[in-house]
Amino acid sequence: MQGYGRCFKLFLAFSLLLLQYAQGGEVDHSQRDTNVTGRCIERERQALLAFKRGLVDESDFLSSWGSEAEKQDCCRWVGVYCSNQTGHVLQLDLSPKVIVEVIQGKLISPKLIELHHLQHLALSSIDFNGIQFPYFIGSLTNLRYLDLSLTYFGGKFPSQVGNLTNLEYLDLSANRFTNVENLHWLPLLSSLRYLDLSFTNLSNVFNWPETVNKLPELTNLTLYGCDLPSPILSTLSYINSSKSLASVDLSFNRLNNSSIFVWLSNYNTSLVYLDLSGNLLAGSIPDVFGNMSSLALLDLSHNQLEGGDPHSFARLCSLQYLDLSRNNLSGQLSKFVQILFSTCAQNSLEMLDIRYNQLRGGIPESIGLLSQLQYIDFSMNSLEGVISETHLSKLSKLQSLDLSSNSLVFDIHADWIPPFQLHSIYLGSCKMGPDFPKWLKTQKKFSYLDISDAGISNNLPSWFWSLCRNVIFMNLTSNQIRGTFANLTFEFSHFPELHLSSNKLEGPIPSVLSKVSYLDLSYNKLSGSISFLCSSAAIGLSFLDLSNNNVSGQVPNCLTHLENLVILDLSYNVLSGKIPTTIGSVFRIQTLKLRSNRFVGQLPSSLKNCTNYEDDATFIWKGGMQTYKSTLGLMKRIDLSSNKLTGEIPSEITHLVGLVSLNLSRNQLTGQITPKIGNLQLLDSLDLSRNHIDGRIPTSLARIDRLGVLDLSYNNLSGKVPVGTQLQGFDPSVYVGNLQLCGPPLKKMCVDEVERGPSEQTDFINQEDKDGLITLGFYISMGLGFAAGFWGVCGTLIFSRSWRYTYLKFLNGLNDWLFVRIALLKRQLKDA
Ligand SMILES: *[C@@H]1O[C@H](CO)[C@@H](O)[C@H](O)[C@H]1NC(C)=O
Ligand SMILES: *[C@@H]1O[C@H](CO)[C@@H](O)[C@H](O)[C@H]1NC(C)=O
Ligand SMILES: *[C@@H]1O[C@H](CO)[C@@H](O)[C@H](O)[C@H]1NC(C)=O
Ligand SMILES: *[C@@H]1O[C@H](CO)[C@@H](O)[C@H](O)[C@H]1NC(C)=O
Ligand SMILES: *[C@@H]1O[C@H](CO)[C@@H](O)[C@H](O)[C@H]1NC(C)=O
Ligand SMILES: *[C@@H]1O[C@H](CO)[C@@H](O)[C@H](O)[C@H]1NC(C)=O
Ligand SMILES: *[C@@H]1O[C@H](CO)[C@@H](O)[C@H](O)[C@H]1NC(C)=O
Ligand SMILES: *[C@@H]1O[C@H](CO)[C@@H](O)[C@H](O)[C@H]1NC(C)=O
Ligand SMILES: *[C@@H]1O[C@H](CO)[C@@H](O)[C@H](O)[C@H]1NC(C)=O
Ligand SMILES: *[C@@H]1O[C@H](CO)[C@@H](O)[C@H](O)[C@H]1NC(C)=O
Ligand SMILES: *[C@@H]1O[C@H](CO)[C@@H](O)[C@H](O)[C@H]1NC(C)=O
Ligand SMILES: *[C@@H]1O[C@H](CO)[C@@H](O)[C@H](O)[C@H]1NC(C)=O
Repeated sequence: MQGYGRCFKLFLAFSLLLLQYAQGGEVDHSQRDTNVTGRCIERERQALLAFKRGLVDESDFLSSWGSEAEKQDCCRWVGVYCSNQTGHVLQLDLSPKVIVEVIQGKLISPKLIELHHLQHLALSSIDFNGIQFPYFIGSLTNLRYLDLSLTYFGGKFPSQVGNLTNLEYLDLSANRFTNVENLHWLPLLSSLRYLDLSFTNLSNVFNWPETVNKLPELTNLTLYGCDLPSPILSTLSYINSSKSLASVDLSFNRLNNSSIFVWLSNYNTSLVYLDLSGNLLAGSIPDVFGNMSSLALLDLSHNQLEGGDPHSFARLCSLQYLDLSRNNLSGQLSKFVQILFSTCAQNSLEMLDIRYNQLRGGIPESIGLLSQLQYIDFSMNSLEGVISETHLSKLSKLQSLDLSSNSLVFDIHADWIPPFQLHSIYLGSCKMGPDFPKWLKTQKKFSYLDISDAGISNNLPSWFWSLCRNVIFMNLTSNQIRGTFANLTFEFSHFPELHLSSNKLEGPIPSVLSKVSYLDLSYNKLSGSISFLCSSAAIGLSFLDLSNNNVSGQVPNCLTHLENLVILDLSYNVLSGKIPTTIGSVFRIQTLKLRSNRFVGQLPSSLKNCTNYEDDATFIWKGGMQTYKSTLGLMKRIDLSSNKLTGEIPSEITHLVGLVSLNLSRNQLTGQITPKIGNLQLLDSLDLSRNHIDGRIPTSLARIDRLGVLDLSYNNLSGKVPVGTQLQGFDPSVYVGNLQLCGPPLKKMCVDEVERGPSEQTDFINQEDKDGLITLGFYISMGLGFAAGFWGVCGTLIFSRSWRYTYLKFLNGLNDWLFVRIALLKRQLKDA
């Protein structure tokens, strides 16, 4: 349960998963028994071959399985393990431990039951895509170990497993069974030690606690995301419990009252690992934990617990990991810390997470006595006061410190040398300026650094960038830091995410900064050209915001390699010249903002080319390839306003059918609005104001139902505003300044109608785009595609803020593919 190991493993596991989908690799078969003398049993060999025929093994990972002469000995096949005495197949293991390629399942051959002697069957992660569970598996009565997690079997829940009375290990998590009516079959498995039914809907199984209690050997129980109801208290007192449960994970269920604690108190001496996160537990922290003397991990995060007096923790002498984040805890933090440090937990506690509560007061210096702490997260509370060296000087094992989003002040001597080397430093909003914190110079290992909004206004020290080579995430936003990138000469070893907005950085942008995935340099004083984008390393860039600087020169004609760029914002600079044609070739771009520069010439005609890409985007999805056509339907926002663009709006712009927002205002555009404008059915915002556009408003505009923001003011439009609820519904000001425009909602009547008065002169309303795009969902949709999106997914899911799985598992909006893999990861972590 060591924080760092956990982190590393999570990283490793995720990397492996990605590799699994990217290219695969070699497996080490060293554990295999390679000293088999005889051949395997023919009937079993045939059964295995029949089983293989039910699989789709595109990468031919099972190539050792075959009928060729040299493949006769099935005991040498990958994943097959035989008895070295009888030759019978004892184990069939095609889980990710053995198989690194994607294998899919079409069916499970009933011939599998020929493997009478099979003791160990693991098909985890082979996707059977909802087919009926193989009921005949109930005949493999010698099975001791059955892992069919993540196999996506469907149909009725296979209560036949109740016939496998020798089972010690059963994992049926992450399948797609229909609701389970009862668990009558479960007590038959009297040898069961390990049970995982996660993601099985058990909402109707009210007697689950009694059933579990009937398993005398059970040590590990995982019922994650099962929609479990609270135990019915009246039945609990009659239970003869097994007293053996050590590990209980009931996270993300519907447990909403104290009856769960009554049940758990049956196991108060055996429990080591207890995860009740993501339930509906309310009220104060219950006393019951006080009796759980062996507890090493307690996760109560994501509940509705209140109060601020956790006195029951005082007796937890083995507690290593305590997560109370995302509850409604109030009161003084000092009380928590006192209870923990004044007891035996002070010598065991490694991780303390109380973020997202309403704890108040200062951080007591006694926190420093918890000398085993590796991970502290107090972020998102209402803490205040001063943090000094005394708080931190004994925390020699600390690796991750998160105190952000409180009202804390760092008062630390410039020459202080901390006893720790931090991996994650999150101190956003902790005031530590005006000088750049010098103690950071001692931290050589950090990958995550947030010292945003820290009141730092002096120069970035010359040593700073040399510490950042291995950084993955950095947030220095909203300081007034001065300095340049002059000493940034190395290459980043990852494609980091750099948030440097709202400072006073100046000078040119070095090409080193192209090797990043996310770069926000907006609101600084940077100058020079943007030729750094021409570096081939910029291929990993997905987000670039250089707005509100003094960047000048032309946009180089080299952007086609920015294959992963989704958002480009160069607005409010002094860029000039023509907008290069290649901008239309940036493959995945969704938002293009070039507002308020000095661009001249015609609108980039390359936007025309945006519909014909022979290069369809391919996505790897659930192990299969899927192709998305018309990728340039991806283009969602274009803002070229406030330049000096001339000429007509190319009618081809209407091919960008995914366009949500188009702002061409404040240019010198001429010609007419293309009648095909109505093709842009997703258009939400259209601003063509302050140009020289003439002709009539095309009637097709009235057919864009979603149009919520329209500005056509100050052009030379004429004729009648087309009739359609949409266009009449806008305020007349959006048409103002077009002297020959008439008809409702304008007061000016058309031709034969009598003029009723002067047209209204309402003030021009500037509709500033609000960019709501940069959300988690954005990263996910972006990242699930390409391997290059690696940092998009992993940076967000794993590396940002917290490397703990508890953070991962609660993210909303994840598709089930990711979700179940996270569950898998979670289990791998626990296996440690
Ligand atoms: C393999 O078999 C040979 C001869 O049958 C024997 O000498 C050797 O010790 C065996 N190796 C192992 C690892 O069992
Ligand atoms: C057979 O396997 C068992 C355990 O799997 C091992 O202890 C034993 O040495 C093996 N026998 C031979 C002859 O390899
Ligand atoms: C065990 O198997 C028999 C037949 O093989 C079947 O009738 C019975 O329902 C099974 N028991 C359970 C608990 O599934
Ligand atoms: C579980 O099944 C019940 C109906 O029995 C349903 O209301 C509930 O939404 C299901 N839970 C999940 C997580 O699908
Ligand atoms: C808890 O909820 C369950 C199911 O809703 C109910 O049967 C039980 O009586 C409740 N227990 C308490 C102590 O409120
Ligand atoms: C509980 O265990 C005792 C003795 O082990 C036994 O006599 C009793 O019947 C059991 N009660 C239940 C409800 O199983
Ligand atoms: C069962 O739980 C214990 C205690 O948390 C843990 O050490 C062990 O690894 C778990 N076993 C399995 C197979 O996950
Ligand atoms: C707990 O949930 C059950 C349904 O699962 C509901 O009937 C009951 O009212 C809830 N109790 C509380 C205290 O919210
Ligand atoms: C565990 O809980 C039971 C009842 O819930 C209680 O009788 C017993 O004393 C507790 N054990 C310890 C060690 O506190
Ligand atoms: C960076 O810091 C700013 C200011 O504290 C904050 O608003 C923003 O959310 C942070 N960005 C990220 C990605 O954490
Ligand atoms: C770059 O670093 C060197 C030594 O590390 C230092 O002397 C120099 O002043 C730095 N330059 C800038 C512009 O920070
Ligand atoms: C548009 O694509 C055609 C080939 O498909 C190419 O010849 C032409 O140069 C492109 N136009 C622009 C402006 O990129």
